[in-house]
Amino acid sequence: MTTNQLIMPVTTETKGRLKIGGCDVIDLAEKYGTPLYVIDEMTIRTACREYKRAFSGYKNVQMMYASKALCTIATSQIIASEGFGFDVVSAGEIYTVYKSGADMSNVLFNGSNKTQEELDLAKKLGVGRISVDNFSELEMLDDADILLRITPGIECHTHEYIKTGQLDSKFGFDMKDIDKAVEIILKKNLRLKGLHAHIGSQIFETEVYGDEIEIVVEELIRLNKKFNLNLNEINIGGGLGVKYTEQDAPPSVDEIADVIISRLDKLVNKYKIEPPKLILEPGRSIVSPAGVTLYKLGTSKQAITKYFAIDGGMADNPRPSMYNAKYSAVIAERPFDNNSLQKVTIAGRFCESGDILLKNIELPNPKKNDILCVFNTGAYNFSMASNYNRVQKPAMVLVNNSQSDIIVLRETLDDLIAHDRTLK
Ligand SMILES: Cc1ncc(COP(=O)(O)O)c(C=O)c1O
Repeated sequence: MTTNQLIMPVTTETKGRLKIGGCDVIDLAEKYGTPLYVIDEMTIRTACREYKRAFSGYKNVQMMYASKALCTIATSQIIASEGFGFDVVSAGEIYTVYKSGADMSNVLFNGSNKTQEELDLAKKLGVGRISVDNFSELEMLDDADILLRITPGIECHTHEYIKTGQLDSKFGFDMKDIDKAVEIILKKNLRLKGLHAHIGSQIFETEVYGDEIEIVVEELIRLNKKFNLNLNEINIGGGLGVKYTEQDAPPSVDEIADVIISRLDKLVNKYKIEPPKLILEPGRSIVSPAGVTLYKLGTSKQAITKYFAIDGGMADNPRPSMYNAKYSAVIAERPFDNNSLQKVTIAGRFCESGDILLKNIELPNPKKNDILCVFNTGAYNFSMASNYNRVQKPAMVLVNNSQSDIIVLRETLDDLIAHDRTLK
């Protein structure tokens, strides 16, 4: 990989040494071992502040971080301290956010097949809103402040989006079913506050958010008229993309804020309504650039391709094998060395031929025991990790101001068998 191809959102380099949060990457690998998730606190805080600043032009706005991107007690504490609430999708995420000491009234419980136990836990721990996804959930719920999750007929995949009459989606109420859902809600002890939508992830478009706002606001107005309601919350989900490789060109938070606020202002003027409360749920764009993963290079093999193996792979980062996600990486010992570049494929250690982390990446003379630093791994890595092949999940270290602290311990062999029971 050449210097100008580097994607190093959280790193600085001094005298050939790669640093994150002021901490030397190779020192981190030596101190904590590999594979290692490293999270830079200031990058998370900066992303949160960027959202708040970019949307400060709209009076009634609330940010709710999508915990599915990365959910630990420490990162939840950081994000809560920036004034964000949380979008959660499981008992585990509810409990983690609760244990972080966050204000649970700023938490929205979302998800397409919530269990009664999860709904009960949400109530017990004071979760502020439930985003109701389907008719079966409406039957299960009682005495709650709710949003209605709708599928607004916008399909968005990174570079392009289409508007369709009806989306074939597992999430939310189809537009044609909304009236029926509201009729049921009105007969129950449920307090409908507004509408919730989410149109996709790793989005590179801006106008798609304007179209989403328009559909959601017009639906809100229609429901208010038809059922004589006073709904005034619109949650438009998350989705802003990040730059994993040089080819990726996501818009800035300012650019999406401009589109969202101007379209919302237009609708407020056109329909002469009170400005609704706007809720956003960014996940990836808050934590992805804050993370790198450190691996140690192991064995190599020259087949048709030159393979280098690492001590992690699809169990700590399933995205490349799941959906061909691309990443950028450097050798931490020689981050800017453009000499002796070799095209190699980085293979994970797991027993699947599809466990390939990076295909055909150029690295300067890679050797066994070099530290490979993969960028932009803060989102959907730890949160998607598994124990495939009964391998322990890596530790996670938080770095800031040249200090490092473990925020998730490396799993031990005893952790792996902690829930096993021997035959009687
Ligand atoms: C309802 C909802 N909100 C927010 C998000 C976060 O999306 P992203 O991480 O792309 O910002 C997701 C992701 O799938 C989601 O399903």
